[in-house]
Order: sequence, then C-alpha cells, then structure tokens
Amino acid sequence: MGIESSCDETAAAVVKNGREILSNVIDSQIEIHKVYGGVVPEIASRRHIETINAVVDSALEQAGVTWEDITAIAVTYGPGLVGALLVGVSTAKALAYALKKPLVAVHHIKGHICANYAAHPELEPPFTCLVASGGHSHIVYAKGYTEYEIMGMTRDDAAGEAFDKIARVLGLGYPGGPKIDALAKEGDPHAVEFPRVRMDKIDKNDKASLDFSFSGVKTAVINHIHRLEQRGEEYSRADIAASFQNAVTDALCEHTIEAAQRRDSDKIVLAGGVAANSALRDKMRKMAGEKGINVYCPPLVLCTDNAVMIAAAGYYEYISGSRAGMSLNACASLTLENEKE
Ligand SMILES: Nc1ncnc2c1ncn2[C@@H]1O[C@H](COP(=O)(O)OP(=O)(O)OP(=O)(O)O)[C@@H](O)[C@H]1O
Ligand SMILES: [Mg+2]
Repeated sequence: MGIESSCDETAAAVVKNGREILSNVIDSQIEIHKVYGGVVPEIASRRHIETINAVVDSALEQAGVTWEDITAIAVTYGPGLVGALLVGVSTAKALAYALKKPLVAVHHIKGHICANYAAHPELEPPFTCLVASGGHSHIVYAKGYTEYEIMGMTRDDAAGEAFDKIARVLGLGYPGGPKIDALAKEGDPHAVEFPRVRMDKIDKNDKASLDFSFSGVKTAVINHIHRLEQRGEEYSRADIAASFQNAVTDALCEHTIEAAQRRDSDKIVLAGGVAANSALRDKMRKMAGEKGINVYCPPLVLCTDNAVMIAAAGYYEYISGSRAGMSLNACASLTLENEKE
C-alpha cells in the first residue's frame, strides 16, 4: 500500500511486487486551489484530512484485496508541504501500528522515478533519469533500485515552476504546464528564440556542468510580453507558449542526453509532472533515438503525483531492508542529497 499527500493530491494505491498496479486512487485538489492561482498549504492539509481515509479504503476495495494481503505500508515523508505530508505520515503510522505491518518511508522524488517500474515491467537500472516536476529539475543516474547519483540540477526555478509562472503571465491559469502544452500546439516554436542557458562551471572531471537554469528564459518571456504590451502590439500567446516550451525542452533534452552519453547509458527515463509534456516526450524520443538511446516515459497519470509511484519505490526500499519506526516525521525540505539511509 502506497500513500501520498505531499502537495495537492491525496492518493493511495496497491501495487504488487513494485510492478503490478492493482489500484490507483487519486483525489486531486486542483479545482479547489484553482481560484487562488496556486496551492494554498492550509487548505491542502485540511482537504487531505477529510479524504485520506476514504481514499485508502477505495484503494483496497478497487484492488480487490483486504489488509491481510498487504505486506507493508509505504508513505511519502518528504519533500513537500509539511502540513500535507503529516496527514499521510500520520495515517500510515496509525495503520502500520494498528495492523502490525512494516512501515516504509519514501522520498517523493525517488517515487517519481519508480513510477516507471510500474509502467514498464522490463525496465531495470542502471539508467539516466530526468526528474522534472513542480519543485525539481534533476538529472539522476539510477545505479540500482534504491541508489541514485545526482548529475545535474536546476540552480533556480524548477521546470514545472517555470511552466506555471509563464502560464500565469499568459493568463492561462493553474496548473500551467498542461495549458501551455495544449496552447503551444497551435503556435510556432521558432517565433521567438528565447535563451537556452548553459552553465559555464566545469566539474571536477573537466566536463561542462549539466545544471539547468530557467529563471533567464522566464525573465526573457516576461520582458518580451511587457515590451509588446507597452508598444500596444498584438501578439500570439500560442507562439510565445510554443517558443518558451521549445527553449525549456531543448535544455532538458540536451543536458539529459549528454548525461546519458557520459555514462554510456542506453536508457533515458522521464519522471515528474513535466514528463507529461508532449513536446518534451517527442523531442527526447527523437533526439535520444538518433543516438541509439531508448526513452521510457510513464503514462500521464503516473507523471504527476500519485501513490502507485510511492508503493513501487516503497517495494524496492522494503526489499532492501528499509523500515521506518513510529518516530517517522514529515521532512518538508528533504533533498536527494540529504536523505539519511
Ligand atoms: N503537460 C505538461 N507540460 C508541462 N508541465 C506539466 C504538464 N503537466 C503537468 N506539468 C507540471 O508538472 C508540475 C506538477 O508535477 P508534480 O505533481 O510532479 O509536481 P509537485 O509534486 O508539485 O512537485 P515535486 O514533485 O517536485 O514535489 C506542475 O508544475 C505542472 O505545471
Ligand atoms: Mg511530485
């Protein structure tokens, strides 16, 4: 059983052996937060409290199993909104205690990566993974099912954050990623050549940094729109959406493919909400395909937050011996670097 409540989705899922999805229940709060233009943490926590028991019950029922069939309970303990995380963590602890089941703490970002195990039964590490979500843009080399090495990350905004901010500037609403994705299909991706930033820092192996920076492209888009508005010029929102998306996806693909080549890795895996972006999926498949690299993308429902990914990651943590105690706490600022073993 996987439980996820780190942001604005209350989710529970039953997954067999980390691979076979028996149920995937997601109560999304998007409709509630939409009017505020983004997630309101206190509202999110309260809604999680209201729905979590029903969501967990539905996950069991839809899987056609009982608690006796559940081996362990996996829960997201960070990163995320602390009040939201606490609801899942407390629920999982109460269940584990009452049912005498092992409790497994799962890192949300490792969960995003492991969504791919549930989606692709044949996928095995090692592989190079691009995790691009609302709060993260990391290139990670998955050495094993629970061992990861960070090869690059964003210096400022996450890719999803940039999508959300530009969508707001274009008046498209929240969440911005899917709206830009849809509007960009009607626009010209080369209408405006927004900057693609390449970090000049050289790492200890004399290789150019694979880090991302999206604040430059974000500012360039905002300035471009302001300039046009000040001049009173008509402009196509679709062209700007397409050109912005083109710049961001170029950076994501180029850095990830370079990371894979540095490791002689023939598999690239996409993870996180931005992995749902159609241009990113197409471009990565095309560019990586030309270099003989296979690309694995989760289905859209497993890109954004869900509990299948937590159950899948929890399975691999469980078989590697990881267990959490009743002292487990939510850790809002957990990073891939600082997770304790
Ligand atoms: N089709 C899409 N194109 C681009 N971005 C998208 C698309 N669909 C979703 N996103 C973006 O994905 C993000 C949500 O993803 P996810 O649920 O993985 O993030 P999160 O859980 O808020 O952050 P994190 O996982 O880093 O804690 C949002 O920023 C959203 O705009
Ligand atoms: Mg997420």
